[in-house]
Amino acid sequence: MRLSETQLAEFAENGFVMLPDLFSDQEVSILKEAQKAVFSEDTDANIVEKKSGEVRTAMGLHLRHEVFANMVRHPRLVEPARQILGTDLYIQQVKINVKAAFDGEAWQWHYDFATHHAEDGVPKPLALNLHVFLEDVNEFNGPLYFIKGSHKHGAAPAHHDTTTTSYPLWCVDADVVAGLVQKGGLASATGKAGSGLIFGDILVHGSPPNMSPWDRPIFSLILNTIENRQTAFARPEYKHHADFTPVTALGDDCLLQTLAAE
Ligand code: SIN
Ligand code: MN
Repeated sequence: MRLSETQLAEFAENGFVMLPDLFSDQEVSILKEAQKAVFSEDTDANIVEKKSGEVRTAMGLHLRHEVFANMVRHPRLVEPARQILGTDLYIQQVKINVKAAFDGEAWQWHYDFATHHAEDGVPKPLALNLHVFLEDVNEFNGPLYFIKGSHKHGAAPAHHDTTTTSYPLWCVDADVVAGLVQKGGLASATGKAGSGLIFGDILVHGSPPNMSPWDRPIFSLILNTIENRQTAFARPEYKHHADFTPVTALGDDCLLQTLAAE
């Protein structure tokens, strides 16, 4: 699958692009079944919310379930990423952030490169975050907020926040956020289950708590160029995978194939 010129232009201008109807209902239900299986596991790679103890993010998924092993090689994710970056890519991180109904806590204002650079020694902000919504995401259940065009102003100053949530994150100060919002404005990423979304490594984003009765599970695959691989290895493998083998795309029916294999 290739992105159109319009989609590429939108990505370049805003720093993100939505891909409605990227995955079918049947594919989403396969992913959600696999989500149930990995969420029920007792592992450090399932990081729970500070207050409720509900799973916040389940990581390292391609090493934990066949469905996700195929999903990280799905041509509808891998090919657009290769098209944008133009070179071989490795699988940097694979997770589902569920933002559970009533209990899902915020993701503070941040950009992913701040953490990848400070913690993992990734040299340049090239990685792409590829999301797939596993339920409808609406204004109520904690959609991602993006500061449009914030990637055009370089990597913002960031501080390490280890207290707000259970997940330590390099975050952007409120005054910097205010300035960037004034320049570019905000967008919220909403859409039906099966929607895709791509955004870059220095686009500033976050998401509010979920006080609605609806979970907001989002699958996320981060792909990085092999030349730009990590140079520091202090974090657990599930936060940054150190297998730098180039990712290759499977067939377009690779999720449906997992049913046949059952
Ligand atoms: C979220 O799940 O709301 C945040 C995801 C991200 O920062 O990539
Ligand atoms: Mn992020």
